[in-house]
Amino acid sequence: MSYLPKLFSTGAIRKTPDRVITKIADEVEFFSEKTSIVEAGAGLGEITNAIQQKNISGKKLNYYAFEIDEDSCDHLKENFPSLNVLKESIFNFEDVLPPFSKLDYFISSIPLSFYKNELITEFLEKVKLHLKDDGKIIILFTAAWLMPVLKKVLPNSQTEGFLTFPPYFIFVYNHNENIKN
Ligand SMILES: C[S@@+](CC[C@H](N)C(=O)[O-])C[C@H]1O[C@@H](n2cnc3c(N)ncnc32)[C@H](O)[C@@H]1O
Repeated sequence: MSYLPKLFSTGAIRKTPDRVITKIADEVEFFSEKTSIVEAGAGLGEITNAIQQKNISGKKLNYYAFEIDEDSCDHLKENFPSLNVLKESIFNFEDVLPPFSKLDYFISSIPLSFYKNELITEFLEKVKLHLKDDGKIIILFTAAWLMPVLKKVLPNSQTEGFLTFPPYFIFVYNHNENIKN
């Protein structure tokens, strides 16, 4: 299955390069008793798979995969039976998630560039409220013009660029960098 035929909902012209996926998985550690992860736009599970593969000790995960595309949801359910696959827009995450301890990781690869800066800001402010003190937000995107809004709402973050076509960026926000003072 390719993302390109659904360009206007996926925002993707190609599969995310493996080294970009690996870099995202490198950000994830399984320190908690039960690591809580929300993945926005899980698609065909490329990031999901890399994270599951990294969990070699088989620790229990609270993994919520949000995806609006029906075919992708079916694929995720079939290939990752331990996941909570939610056919729902990530913008409604607060209405859908059951009450559970705060998140260790919020990982997004949705096409944020499709949305207005006001909506992105409001959304990411809400995500911050659901993070553990040492939680992380990891955002994958290709639209470089998103950088200012991301930096504004998620200060003290690190960005890494990948010289691919199109160029990919990974933006990593560590909550404890912002709450320690
Ligand atoms: C660029 S693809 C990323 C797929 C995969 N995670 C990867 O990195 O290769 C973006 C995915 O986000 C999904 N998506 C777009 N808007 C969404 C939303 N508001 N909520 C949840 N998923 C969304 C699309 O259906 C698509 O599968």
